[in-house]
Amino acid sequence: MTIAEVQEKIREIKRERGICVLAHSYQAREILEVADYTGDSYKLSVAAAEDKKSIAIMCGVRFMAETVKLLSPEKTVFLANADAGCPMADGLSADRLRAAKEKYPGSPVVCYINTTAEVKALSDVCVTSSSAVAIIRAMPESEILFVPDCNLGAYVADSLPEKTVHLINGGCPIHAAVSGADVAAARRAHPGALLLVHPECVPDVTRAADYVGSTSGIYDYAVKSDKKEFIIGTEVSIAEHLQYACPDKKFYPLTKKLMCHNMKLTTLMDLYHCLVAASGGSDGGGEQITIEPSLMTDARRCIDEMIRLGEKGKDNK
Ligand code: 13P
Ligand code: SF4
Repeated sequence: MTIAEVQEKIREIKRERGICVLAHSYQAREILEVADYTGDSYKLSVAAAEDKKSIAIMCGVRFMAETVKLLSPEKTVFLANADAGCPMADGLSADRLRAAKEKYPGSPVVCYINTTAEVKALSDVCVTSSSAVAIIRAMPESEILFVPDCNLGAYVADSLPEKTVHLINGGCPIHAAVSGADVAAARRAHPGALLLVHPECVPDVTRAADYVGSTSGIYDYAVKSDKKEFIIGTEVSIAEHLQYACPDKKFYPLTKKLMCHNMKLTTLMDLYHCLVAASGGSDGGGEQITIEPSLMTDARRCIDEMIRLGEKGKDNK
């Protein structure tokens, strides 16, 4: 089958079976084109919770599918490619977090959404790249323990000097590999371009940027800007998608190192096979996400707190 034929088949199954497809912005174009919702981790979880369909398929990585399940326990949730994980989320075990909590007993734990359900269950508040600063600002405590991304944590600490942010070792191996030298090289190659970066990058990179934001934040900033050239400091797919959205502008990946292999694992055929499984077919693919009920209740608490503080943050603006 051609890509167009598979896409047509996918649209047909979605329509007939009432299945909602979510695709993170790092996914391939042919997947984004057939998705009901696209965007950053936060946007996708909220969209899935608000959507009325009872089955959702996540084209992204495991913690994203788990978050959809936590927000919509009554839904049947699938991860389109069962091997797609996030090394940052997998790098922090519940035991390591317990040890860190003992070190900072008075500090509430703020976890990035890129965490397992087990880690969320041990955390007080969850945040996303787009909400971290506003939510931590809205927390009454002046001291927090932020896990697992020490770079996003450092960005929060830079933005909120009134808070003491305790960090542990952890982060995204893809974004953290970008250096100040890469920034200098990109600036030299594209002197008129604005530098837009994800807060998972190291402080040498975020401090040198013209804008720091989530994947959706970077995308929207570039689309709305009246500038013509941009260096994109997040996964290379965002520069590609922006080029389609704004053919009259130029987008340069900050470095070719910015490629997430886990995000690239999911193919259009994986989505097709997952739709077959979600429709009850025995020869389908993907994995249905199940979370043990008591873990679900515990992990959900920090997400509810994220939503509550997110609303409070808006009032305080
Ligand atoms: P966003 O929430 O910005 O989509 O980030 C998720 C992620 O994994 C980025 O590497
Ligand atoms: Fe995880 Fe980094 Fe890939 Fe995002 S880009 S899914 S944080 S490894």
